[in-house]
Amino acid sequence: MFTKAIVRKPAHTFANGITEANLGKPDYKIALKQHEAYCEALAKCGLELTILEANPEFPDSCFVEDTAVVTKDFGVIARPGNIKRQGEEIEIKKVLEPLLPLYSITEPGTLDGGDVMQADNKFIIGLSNRTNLTGSRQLKEILEKHNYDVTVIPICNILHFKTGVNYLGENNLLLQEGICSLNELSSYNHIIIEQDEFYAANCLRVNDYVLVPKGFPKTKSNVEKLGYKIIELELSEFQKMDGGLSCLSLRF
Ligand code: GLY
Repeated sequence: MFTKAIVRKPAHTFANGITEANLGKPDYKIALKQHEAYCEALAKCGLELTILEANPEFPDSCFVEDTAVVTKDFGVIARPGNIKRQGEEIEIKKVLEPLLPLYSITEPGTLDGGDVMQADNKFIIGLSNRTNLTGSRQLKEILEKHNYDVTVIPICNILHFKTGVNYLGENNLLLQEGICSLNELSSYNHIIIEQDEFYAANCLRVNDYVLVPKGFPKTKSNVEKLGYKIIELELSEFQKMDGGLSCLSLRF
């Protein structure tokens, strides 16, 4: 069970962030409304929220998940793999410091939290354009010290590992059709997301609910069939900036 989450409001510079989505420019006012609804959903799931003010210096900084990996017992401050995002982690470290013992990924390691998926007592780290081998090895060592199993796998054609693969719990794994490194994921019950709903591979389990992006009826129905209670959220403005449900919070 999660009890807390950290989120950061989108900045007025949000549209200047990094994206390859080709979906047009996000509307800042709509993004703020969608972010508010996201925060309300996390509160409904029972989380106590720390809502950080926007930081216009970093247009991508509402995607807080990339700045750290957190568990109930400790946190690891990431070192973002895109130079434009390096520095976002500094304030997150200040916020987490009073709450958890912390480690840090150090140079030349790079790691984005979006490449790190927890599935019960196991972590899977995706090697991406953001997370390098050194960063993954540093995180693996820390996690293994805390008795987690860790697998590191290469990913392709997606920004972050969790862009394409997400664990719901109860051995259920959402994954985009055609994802590589399938062998390492073979022990899970696969819920395949077809190409027309790829964005919905990034659903987010929070306690008794699964948050699902609005507009992906097949995924919604497949998750419901598994017996989960659903909260649907409009994420259009974040999708335009290559961000999804998991990217918008750190949960622990
Ligand atoms: N816009 C999110 C990212 O590229 O990290």
